[in-house]
Amino acid sequence: MSVQNTSIPLTTNDHLVRWVEKIAELTKPDAIHWVDGSREEYDMLCAQMVESGTFTKLNQKLWPGCFYARSDPSDVARVEDRTFICSLSKDSAGPTNNWVDPYEMRRKLKGLFDGAMRGRTMYVLAFSMGPVGGPMSRIGVQLTDSPYVVVNTRIMARIGLPVFREIDKDEGRVVPCVHSVGAPLVPGQKDVPWPCNSEKYIVHFPETREIWSYGSGYGGNALLGKKCFALRIASNIARDEGWMAEHMLILGVEDPKGEKTYVAAAFPSACGKTNFAMLIPPKGFEGWKIWTVGDDIAWIKPGKDGVLHAINPEAGFFGVAPGTSAATNPNAMETLSRNTIFTNVALTPEGGVWWEGMTEEPPAECLDWQGKKWTPQSAKETGAKAAHPNARFTAPASQCPTIDPHWEDPNGVPISAIIFGGRREKTIPLVYQAFNWSSGVYIGATMGSEMTAAATGTVGKVRRDPMAMLPFCGYHMGDYFRHWLKMPRSLSATPRIFHVNWFRKGADGKFIWPGYRENMRVLKWIVERARVRAPGAETPIGWMPRYEDIEWKGLKFPKEKFEELQAFDRTAWQREVMDHEELFIRLHDHLPPEMIYERELLICRL
Ligand code: OXD
Ligand code: MN
Repeated sequence: MSVQNTSIPLTTNDHLVRWVEKIAELTKPDAIHWVDGSREEYDMLCAQMVESGTFTKLNQKLWPGCFYARSDPSDVARVEDRTFICSLSKDSAGPTNNWVDPYEMRRKLKGLFDGAMRGRTMYVLAFSMGPVGGPMSRIGVQLTDSPYVVVNTRIMARIGLPVFREIDKDEGRVVPCVHSVGAPLVPGQKDVPWPCNSEKYIVHFPETREIWSYGSGYGGNALLGKKCFALRIASNIARDEGWMAEHMLILGVEDPKGEKTYVAAAFPSACGKTNFAMLIPPKGFEGWKIWTVGDDIAWIKPGKDGVLHAINPEAGFFGVAPGTSAATNPNAMETLSRNTIFTNVALTPEGGVWWEGMTEEPPAECLDWQGKKWTPQSAKETGAKAAHPNARFTAPASQCPTIDPHWEDPNGVPISAIIFGGRREKTIPLVYQAFNWSSGVYIGATMGSEMTAAATGTVGKVRRDPMAMLPFCGYHMGDYFRHWLKMPRSLSATPRIFHVNWFRKGADGKFIWPGYRENMRVLKWIVERARVRAPGAETPIGWMPRYEDIEWKGLKFPKEKFEELQAFDRTAWQREVMDHEELFIRLHDHLPPEMIYERELLICRL
């Protein structure tokens, strides 16, 4: 069968053309559109979505180039319980991933995708993670029946003709990705603004490097270059090839003398990675500057110089909107002020957007993320939020005022420090440094965080989230730790490893640390430790700054409060270590012995 309405293939690669035909035979779309990635095509797709009701064009005077979408209320976040790693053996996926036998899953997918694109157009979306043609970059091709995915991916990755040209030039492997919202249309059936299916499957085949996603149009479930490719599949490729695919932001710290130090930082979803990546130094830090390389994902490889180099494989930010404001993150506000797609925020009567925390004063009224009338009064009575807590903006990275001049360097930037962090009310100090690489790997491996709205689940519950990769590591977590432990073998210098916690609360239940810009004070100590020129005090868990080791110029922060923040509570830590054991027991048959030794050493020091 051939689809009548097919645009001219943009590749000379027969293998790719045949695969597109094969998937079209299965999914039976009405049309096939090879995405060239041009501005005209983007404008055409956006206009088409305005017509169909998926998009609302925002007031172009206030929000030039911006569009607004509301998802189906059942499709608002990544669905971790519907995310599968279908490796040949269950053992390779490990106990922290959902595993289904790949043969069984292929049979299931065949049924689900049979006719899934009826009445829709199948887009052939070639994308490059990392600058097109770069030595650390990788290519994927996503077949999708969602124009929303196409326009979002045009912001989040490099797409279209230049990528097809790269495919034609190079015999290198392409990661095939098949995506359907799972809502076929019968002739004459009117579409809904956000088609999706209550049955969802986000499936990865690590050995064949394939992704199949069904039933969702939202974020990481549907923009397959992001979590599915750049983390779950890439973590498998990285392990096999000796590099690292990590859930990390990358930033550069420039001091007043012009010396620049790059750091990468892993925090679980919705814990302020975007804010940290775009930090503006506070009062007292005149002459210092933070440069943004990426806010979510880092691909890190040993360079010829023996140090780790990182690229941001993405080209945009898919940031959490609520809480983002001119006070908390002016760089993000500037970045999203134009050419941005907003999803599940609130719509104001003048055709603008709003979300909780954007302004101190809420609008007198607006339409909430479900299109219902919302007023501050009604919110007081019912507690209803105007924006969904996981509402997002999709904005081009190039629009970020602090984007690093090297952010598209195909060889990446050198990484001097790695920071782990979680959201913890108790026990965990503001900052401490690991004694060495393997104790640092232990710190990353045992990271815990209170859950947020970025995924479905119980918000607030502490879960172990090793290296912030629990939902994103595409193979056995124990083997992943082993891979980390092996990295120094191909390096002459390893980055220093740190742990931070901006979220510790006092007895009054309030955050002790002001956070945001003030995090610069912690970052300065980290950079100076990484350059081996700042003092610190040895404690049972690692090196800590003393009050006098932190730059306090421009902030009145009493010593007692700092001591409360850094307090090391032996009994609480003993409980914490018991909790580490719970994760280790789950991973025991693949757990590297170094992790046990590190735990024993920690217990001895406690
Ligand atoms: C994200 C996430 O969207 O981690 O970045 O959920
Ligand atoms: Mn993320």
